[in-house]
Amino acid sequence: RQNERESLFIVLNFAKNFFEDQLLTTEEGQSIGLSYFRERGFNDTTRKKFELGYSPEAWDALAQAALAKGYSAEILEKAGLFIPREGSATGGYDRFRSRVIFPIHSVAGKVIAFGARIMKTDSAAKGHQPKYLNSPETAVYHKSEVLYGIFQAKNAIRQADVCYLVEGYTDVVSLHQAGIENVVASSGTSLTVEQIRLIGRFTPNVTILYDGDAAGLKAALRGLDLVLEEGLNVSIVTFPPGEDPDSYVRLIGTEAFKDYLRKSARDFITFKTTTLLADAGEDPFRKAAVIGEVVGSIVRIPDAIQRQIFFHKIAEMMRVDEQMLISEGNKLLRKQK
Ligand code: CTP
Ligand code: MN
Ligand code: MN
Ligand code: MN
Ligand code: MN
Repeated sequence: RQNERESLFIVLNFAKNFFEDQLLTTEEGQSIGLSYFRERGFNDTTRKKFELGYSPEAWDALAQAALAKGYSAEILEKAGLFIPREGSATGGYDRFRSRVIFPIHSVAGKVIAFGARIMKTDSAAKGHQPKYLNSPETAVYHKSEVLYGIFQAKNAIRQADVCYLVEGYTDVVSLHQAGIENVVASSGTSLTVEQIRLIGRFTPNVTILYDGDAAGLKAALRGLDLVLEEGLNVSIVTFPPGEDPDSYVRLIGTEAFKDYLRKSARDFITFKTTTLLADAGEDPFRKAAVIGEVVGSIVRIPDAIQRQIFFHKIAEMMRVDEQMLISEGNKLLRKQK
């Protein structure tokens, strides 16, 4: 077992070097991959820091290079890099082809998986392939336990004593380039307890920067009770419709972006209340449902003093009696037990 894990780390590192090499030293990699990164505004320092790469169009370019170096098809497959197929020269094909590559690192900095982006989003031209293709689960990659960028971010998170949580690979890379290094990505999925505990190793404070669309907002609201339960302090920043942290920092510039984060961060409970209330309008039944929903979040907070502060704040916001909220909360707590 331990041996297999070590072999996987070695072949994954080989693949990372191969993709980086393809990007920098081949005509195809330079004219397609490198120019893609340049058009997105990623500079060489940023590119190196994240070890970005390019996977060529050929069916089995990586497999051929790896087999020539003595790696087996079996270990390539176990690393999630190779898909076996009967009757082909190398016995299969590469998982990642014609894509720019974002290596995914463990906390300790080992490459454990890859995210790979198609360059043309014109789906007709690419036969309806997904924008991102990711490594499958392997012996060294458990998606639900990983946060993209944690290795590059961990010291900055400790220092700033806050972790910015974004949706995408490119948000992490772009914010680093803007000098904001305390940032990790959930990679489009809702947060898991393992990911929350990973952040908790470096700071108790999380600020969520999700995409400015309905899906981003839903993703932000979903799963957040879990974060509260783990005792983390959650704030949230939203972006104008259609913007994500990457596009927005490029639109308004680094200094304005930092200002925006400072000014628009709101604690999660307040944010949730405002968002749900705006939906409910004046309907008393729907307003009552909002109270239930928000009180349900507050009672997840393990710290009694924090809970008290939120009951007070929400009572004022909703213009309802604070004691009523507290007794609703107590009812919910009794039900949980
Ligand atoms: N994602 C994925 N598979 C997809 C689409 C998205 O795994 N088919 C994940 C990726 O980790 C992606 C994140 O969800 O980075 C956020 O998705 P999205 O906002 O669509 O992509 P961006 O990161 O903004 O990428 P880009 O700016 O290149 O469009
Ligand atoms: Mn999105
Ligand atoms: Mn984006
Ligand atoms: Mn996005
Ligand atoms: Mn009070």
